[in-house]
Amino acid sequence: MYFPRKIELIEVGPRDGLQNEPIAIPTSSKKELIRHLAEAGFRRMETAAFVSPKWVPQMADAEEISKYCHELGITYLALTPNLMALERAIAAKAPQIAVFVGASSAFNQKNVNKTTEQSLVECEEMFALAKQNGMFIRAYVSMAFSCPYQGEVTLEEVRRVCDRFVQLGADEIDIGDTNGFANPKMAYERFSRLKDWYPDTVFVGHFHDTRKMALANTLAAMQAGIEKFDSSIGGLGGCPFSPGAAGNLATEDISLMLSELGVNTGVHLEKVKQTVPLARSLSSRF
Ligand code: HMG
Ligand code: MG
Repeated sequence: MYFPRKIELIEVGPRDGLQNEPIAIPTSSKKELIRHLAEAGFRRMETAAFVSPKWVPQMADAEEISKYCHELGITYLALTPNLMALERAIAAKAPQIAVFVGASSAFNQKNVNKTTEQSLVECEEMFALAKQNGMFIRAYVSMAFSCPYQGEVTLEEVRRVCDRFVQLGADEIDIGDTNGFANPKMAYERFSRLKDWYPDTVFVGHFHDTRKMALANTLAAMQAGIEKFDSSIGGLGGCPFSPGAAGNLATEDISLMLSELGVNTGVHLEKVKQTVPLARSLSSRF
């Protein structure tokens, strides 16, 4: 079996973990969570989303969270679905943005009120503006395995979105199993093909744990040469527009597995474990 010497874990709990929570979480509690995660060694975290507060009320404090990340001195990612979001991110001096486009157009329509093609066209202007502002650009391909509205998502549909992201100069492409329907065979095969097609592109794996396969999918993607993964503390998470999707790959699970395999992540396993109760205390699921 192949194990890289190093894996980057990107903590997405403060964003993906909390965005779907039905009851408003105080900004002070989010800050406490971010601080604990920074102390656990995460160098890069997804903490905010400059989305519409009407669509996702839990992310309404994106500006204040950004300000806190600057005070803490951490590198953070902020979701930007459209130009207005990017303008907010620029004003907040976000160092890294994340655009997200569904491989399934049916999902993209539910998520951001645009077809996949319309979002990709908007990305052209967004990438140019983000680059002018020196921002790092993460580009998510959501519903990259299956979709609750469309059913099967083909690799060709994923490729079409990746082609555009590569042409536009994404700094990394994050392949999202938004509804958690990938399995290890699919994960291995899709990531292997993507790596063949785009040898110079940095890919990230983002698995939701709906069917308890997120850890197995991560291991399979590692076999295909992927060295960056998103995870969420306490296994929190879910997308409001992906019905039935469970939380993300749990940070404590992947940290433990990689530690036992001798793969360096730079995170402190004990501190990660200690942060789980705090994260879960913010969620209505636990
Ligand atoms: P819309 O309603 O089509 O927007 O929403 P619009 O352009 O028609 O504008 C309507 C109103 O929204 C206007 O205000 C705009 O100013 C305002 P009004 O005139 O009515 O007062 N507006 C905004 N306000 C704040 N920030 C903005 C913004 N844009 C417009 N950026 C929009 C389009 C994209 C805003 C909306 O659909 C939205 O916010 N969607 C959010 C979707 C979301 O956050 N989904 C969850 C994250 S994705 C995910 O979880 C998957 C991922 O984890 C990867 C994976 O798992 O695969 C990333
Ligand atoms: Mg997600």
